[in-house]
Amino acid sequence: MKAIVAPQPDGAEELALIERPVPRPSAGEVLIKVAAAGVNRPDILQRRGLYPPPPGAPDILGLEVAGEVVEAGEGAEQLLGARVCALVAGGGYAEYCVAPAGTCLRIPEVLSLVEAAAIPETLFTVWTNLFGRGCAADGDTVLVHGGTSGIGTMAIALGKLFGMRVIVTCGSDAKAERAVEIGATAAINYRTQDFVEEVKRLTGGKGVRVVLDMVGGDYVPRNLTCLADEGRHVSIAFQRGARADLAISEVMRRRLTLTGSTLRPRELRFKTMLRDEIAATVWPLVEGGQLRPVVDSKFPLDRAAEAHARMEAGDHVGKLVLEVS
Ligand SMILES: NC(=O)c1ccc[n+]([C@@H]2O[C@H](COP(=O)([O-])OP(=O)(O)OC[C@H]3O[C@@H](n4cnc5c(N)ncnc54)[C@H](OP(=O)(O)O)[C@@H]3O)[C@@H](O)[C@H]2O)c1
Repeated sequence: MKAIVAPQPDGAEELALIERPVPRPSAGEVLIKVAAAGVNRPDILQRRGLYPPPPGAPDILGLEVAGEVVEAGEGAEQLLGARVCALVAGGGYAEYCVAPAGTCLRIPEVLSLVEAAAIPETLFTVWTNLFGRGCAADGDTVLVHGGTSGIGTMAIALGKLFGMRVIVTCGSDAKAERAVEIGATAAINYRTQDFVEEVKRLTGGKGVRVVLDMVGGDYVPRNLTCLADEGRHVSIAFQRGARADLAISEVMRRRLTLTGSTLRPRELRFKTMLRDEIAATVWPLVEGGQLRPVVDSKFPLDRAAEAHARMEAGDHVGKLVLEVS
């Protein structure tokens, strides 16, 4: 089968289309004939050698796929022949991909395979961080950085469906306009406005219940200022730096919580629990057509490098997807 790896992790042009044997599913796993695979920022980090696959995961890039189950290991036979999308720890940029049955979701008729491939990584991530660790709930106002990212667009859509006011930050006016079209309550251009002041104004000085942060560094103390008392700060990335200088006294005085997580290395049991929660609470909204991913663009598998280049240029809104078959 054809697959994409990063043999020399130092540039998009180094992605290589190679031939590999079709993998075989073990017990509890399925083999998916991949129709489409989502592209995520962590794939770029992996290509650059900054995010190696966890032990046991394939070196083939790709954290999410959609397609048809063509072979099932013991205990996963119920999925044979089904159209599914799946979260995988690697192996998505390929014609065939093995996935745990426990991270598969059946694709409803209302979704295309390209749309389905754009869902798992952001949905699982936003679900466990914004709703799980952040405890965001109906009626809350939350702040999400990277409002037009894959993660940000999913956070806007989910937050809105679950009754939240979602304030986002974006790097241009055009992106801010798109974020509001997608459903953000308000979008702040962080290049021309001070997001701390804007959040204060937009919340009447109360602050937000949760900050979902993918920026890190000097944003962290500023994010804390945006939080209401008892608010929660959830880190999912640190694009401006892995270290932050913050006032512990503020955390104590205002009873703030700092937390975060990274999805890929989590054990299958945890991911399956997330899948079950999502199947029960979010998937009916997908089946009903209320939740769809925002797809920026599609590329054939053999042009994966162009998809990476587009993501790195930072002009996209929503998800990039590779069409495989
Ligand atoms: N922890 C986890 O489990 C997990 C899982 C998946 C993804 N992630 C992380 O989540 C982030 C988003 O992933 P994605 O796939 O959705 O990527 P993406 O679509 O490429 O989005 C990246 C976003 O980061 C924003 N950004 C970059 N540098 C910034 C800066 N200096 N200040 C403010 N905003 C900045 C960009 O916004 P502008 O262009 O508007 O500036 C862009 O919207 C990535 O950092 C990724 O590593 C974490």
